[in-house]
Amino acid sequence: MRASVVLHRQSTIARIDPRLYGSFLEHLGRAIYTGIYEPAHPSADADGMRRDVIELVRELRVPLVRYPGGNFVSAYDWEDGIGPKEARPVRLDLAWHTSESNQVGLHEFADWCASVGAEMMMAVNLGSRGLEAARDLLEYANHPGGSAWSDRRRANGREAPFDIRLWCLGNEMDGTWQIGHKTADEYGRLAYETAKAMRAFDKRLELVVCGSSSSHMATYPQWEATVLDHTYDEIDYISLHMYFENPAKDTANYLARSLELDGYIRTVAGIIDFVKAKKRSRKDVYISFDEWNVWYHSRERDRAILEGNAGWPEAPPLLEDDYTFEDVLQVGCIINTFINRSDVVKIACLAQLVNVIAPIMTVPGGPAWRQTIFYPFHFASVFGRGEALRLLVDCPTYEAEGVGAVPYLDIAAVADAESGHVTLFIVNRHLTEALDLDVDLLGCGAMAVEDDRVIAHPDLEARNTAKCPDAVTPVAGQGAEVAAGRLRAAIAPLSYRMIRL
Ligand code: AHR
Repeated sequence: MRASVVLHRQSTIARIDPRLYGSFLEHLGRAIYTGIYEPAHPSADADGMRRDVIELVRELRVPLVRYPGGNFVSAYDWEDGIGPKEARPVRLDLAWHTSESNQVGLHEFADWCASVGAEMMMAVNLGSRGLEAARDLLEYANHPGGSAWSDRRRANGREAPFDIRLWCLGNEMDGTWQIGHKTADEYGRLAYETAKAMRAFDKRLELVVCGSSSSHMATYPQWEATVLDHTYDEIDYISLHMYFENPAKDTANYLARSLELDGYIRTVAGIIDFVKAKKRSRKDVYISFDEWNVWYHSRERDRAILEGNAGWPEAPPLLEDDYTFEDVLQVGCIINTFINRSDVVKIACLAQLVNVIAPIMTVPGGPAWRQTIFYPFHFASVFGRGEALRLLVDCPTYEAEGVGAVPYLDIAAVADAESGHVTLFIVNRHLTEALDLDVDLLGCGAMAVEDDRVIAHPDLEARNTAKCPDAVTPVAGQGAEVAAGRLRAAIAPLSYRMIRL
């Protein structure tokens, strides 16, 4: 089957914000405790952080980490996580029905971010709390000194401000499951007043208002219109979330969901434009897609804890999805969608980073390893920086429920002006047939294949585990070549490919 693509080096979609490859750590399950933080682990540093995990996060080159939730933040008192560790309270976390020891808080997280080279994206609690707690946290974190909260930070051992620039105004406030859930009007007003107060402290902050928790919410897309109507001139981003699942084990339908994602982004971009025009505003608002991933493998296992039958355990193994080879293809298609929509999606966070629906897993006291989805994220994060190129794609399609015609070829291309490289990220959705890919490389000058990696496996259910961490890994691709300004490659059925020119 033939798939033709035309690109021109000068025809770009947008410069990709590196924060498109962000991630997320919530006080949930074993993300923090025995995930990033395990003082008794043989690899722990002086702060109790696992060095083996730090190394893997650095390998992913994650530029940004959202924290501390998630649903968790909507009943969280940030003050519980500061000051001497022995004096910090144990609290019952209502979102995940667990006990929170507060041994990790703002200071520990900030130091950890510095060690992995990531910026902090801090969420404030607009569920059980509001403007005042957000204002206090901001003053504690960012004011140099000479005020009550900033001097408390200094007394707690941190002289220089944390200088957190990017703030989420609550989390999934449209969700009835959220502690302190609100209507769009209630939330819009609160978010606006909170944003105004935060901007009164520092005009340069970047603020993210909550959009929908998914495009299946009954309140979508009116939620976005109402919330933006209240907040447009005080905020910079509207957040969207989406999780993917394949409980019916229908691969073709599963891999079509990235088109639904594309439609979700397109709709919200339209609402942003509508509100901008309505307000005669000159400023732009972008999308922060700050939770996305595959999430369904662990649902059955989690039931007892989430329903409270397990009491209030500390750091239980919640949301520990064991990702499959099939999920590599899905994650590849999702990231391609973000690259191809990088004119409106500036920030995206893979949810999450360690142990909880994560690319990195750990055994308490034991090893850390890479799940299957680690690899497509890694390739995009490392090689997908620069300018997203506009592609003309011509290839056969199949019909999928709810989305219509789905091209067998999913592809994105990124040009890096500094190095001169063009990198193609490719997924063949066809269950049985290879794609004969032909890419016309207009305006690129002389090109050659510099790197070629394939992720393929005969078993869609193949997984990496602690005992067998390398069941699904990238291998060198074969046969791709550039001749007369065209790249030609045979893309195997159900495979992921990264070709760097
Ligand atoms: O990432 C897991 C959960 O998914 C988050 O806590 C919440 O925001 C979303 O529903």
